[in-house]
Amino acid sequence: MKQFISVDDVPSVPRLVETALGYKKQPFKDKTLGENKTLGMIFLNPSLRTRLSTQVAAKNLGMEVVVFNIDKEGWQLEMNDGAIMNGNTTEHVKEAAAVMGQYFDILSIRTFPGLKDKEADYTEKYINQFIKYAGVPVVSLESATLHPLQSLTDVITIKEEWQQARRPKVVMTWAPHVKPLPQAVPNSFAEWMNAWGEADFVITHPKGYELDKKFTGSAPIEYDQDKALEGADFVYVKNWSSYEDYGKITCTDSNWMVTNEKLRGTNQAKVMHCLPVRRNVVIADEVLDGPQSIVIKEAGNRTWAAQAVLSEILKSSL
Ligand code: CP
Repeated sequence: MKQFISVDDVPSVPRLVETALGYKKQPFKDKTLGENKTLGMIFLNPSLRTRLSTQVAAKNLGMEVVVFNIDKEGWQLEMNDGAIMNGNTTEHVKEAAAVMGQYFDILSIRTFPGLKDKEADYTEKYINQFIKYAGVPVVSLESATLHPLQSLTDVITIKEEWQQARRPKVVMTWAPHVKPLPQAVPNSFAEWMNAWGEADFVITHPKGYELDKKFTGSAPIEYDQDKALEGADFVYVKNWSSYEDYGKITCTDSNWMVTNEKLRGTNQAKVMHCLPVRRNVVIADEVLDGPQSIVIKEAGNRTWAAQAVLSEILKSSL
């Protein structure tokens, strides 16, 4: 694997999932694979899970890690080629990314969307400029439109939990939120569910919250949440802002919050969320604190997803 930006970079999703589960059993089996290699982790936005789990994963492989909060500690970057830099930006990404490529063997970056300009966000300008100029493999720690490390984790978690011969029914449900959030996690989850192909995948959300078809593909959309949840084995909960009315909150209906009552029609579904989660807005306490929630296990699996990805890139560059 040469980079990890989307599911399209992965030669085989099932194989990557097996690699990750192998690391879960034996975290240190490749402890010298990354010896004398350094991972750069560049953050333009906050993170708890991605930041910590990826560091642990890299260390399990024997890598050194450098974390740089470029938004707070770096020069303000110019991302546009040909810009006349007589404004607030101090350093062009051409130099910044290229220089970081001199220090690191793998460069990872988190860059959220502005949620103002759909076209700018969906062309993934930030991460693509880093890919263009870094000269080393780039790993997404969540970009404007995708969060592949999270989605790999989610597939790993479903695979690990599901022990039956039949295909599980996985329902991704929109839930309310007080702030407009990116579409990266749901886009990515849909893309990975479709690519993995081992589950019956359904999406439910209020009208007006349709995601980009490029990611959802032919996954059925059911606007009635209760109907969608019937017989679900996994309920993947996530808020996102409107893609159509870009970056806007067009529904505040608290009936979409996931409660025990909502789960009654499911097949005692396991409840997943990428975290952080706003309790009693997105998911009720009774669910998060109850036996059906697997959000902590899911977050724990972030380490094995990151370790599998880093190991595949290290192996490709050996
Ligand atoms: N799920 C996730 O990416 O968490 P963080 O934003 O805390 O990294």
